[in-house]
Amino acid sequence: MRYAGKSSGCLGCGRCVRTRTIRLDLRNLNVQGDVRRVDCADGDHFVAVKLNDEIIDVDDSYCDRLDDEWRAVQTDRDKVLFYALSQIVYPEIDTPRPEKLESLYAPVDVLDVVLLRWQAGKAIGFYTVKPTGTEIFSTKERYVMPVVDTAYIRSEYRNQGFGTGILSDVTARFPNEDIGFSKPVSSGMLRILKAFLTSRKEYRLRFWEVADCDISGSQQLIWCTLKRAAL
Ligand SMILES: CC(C)(COP(=O)(O)OP(=O)(O)OC[C@H]1O[C@@H](n2cnc3c(N)ncnc32)[C@H](O)[C@@H]1OP(=O)(O)O)[C@@H](O)C(=O)NCCC(=O)NCCS
Repeated sequence: MRYAGKSSGCLGCGRCVRTRTIRLDLRNLNVQGDVRRVDCADGDHFVAVKLNDEIIDVDDSYCDRLDDEWRAVQTDRDKVLFYALSQIVYPEIDTPRPEKLESLYAPVDVLDVVLLRWQAGKAIGFYTVKPTGTEIFSTKERYVMPVVDTAYIRSEYRNQGFGTGILSDVTARFPNEDIGFSKPVSSGMLRILKAFLTSRKEYRLRFWEVADCDISGSQQLIWCTLKRAAL
């Protein structure tokens, strides 16, 4: 990591203050350029990520395509936005709550499918999928179905149906396949799964909870988990 102090405008506090930059390694996302996290040195908060000479502000991200949809990341800019949401905004601003079984997310593997939710030109959430056949490094087991490994909607966009949209999107992307969800499934996600499976009976025998430490031994039907817990 390299640090460099310099004077510039902070997008967070709006003042001309010193910023601190930390060099990031995004090779797992196939981003080869010079990527740096910029923090406000005085207020000590996250400002933006710099990709080469471009400042990428997650609060003011724009996209040439204005379609409100889930879209697989394509450009380095998309990947940097995903990094900022998953490794900075979620852990540091919308901090996961262990009592709701929300957990931090490890960096994605190079073969993971990464989807961003775009809304009015802004990236407001993501989910990632481990494709069928992905090998677990420690056990050498392989996933036997696509597994939704991470999911997140920015807190200010919650309770508007975007999380439920993850379920519609993943079933459309992987039609006729069983779908896994990495354990632990958070209580918020379990509630939307319950609502989804209550109205979409055809998916009740197709959604599974899966733990990466023991894929075959841990697999459980989510509909049974919901019934048992009477959620
Ligand atoms: C779990 C998570 C993805 C849900 O995202 P979300 O966008 O809030 O999900 P939805 O809006 O579809 O559903 C949430 C609630 O809003 C309700 N809702 C859906 N559309 C709505 C609308 N238009 N107006 C009002 N409420 C609405 C849903 O019925 C649901 O209610 P419930 O919690 O009482 O069951 C989000 O809370 C999150 O990112 N949490 C932190 C990380 C996490 O838990 N990830 C999952 C790991 S398994």
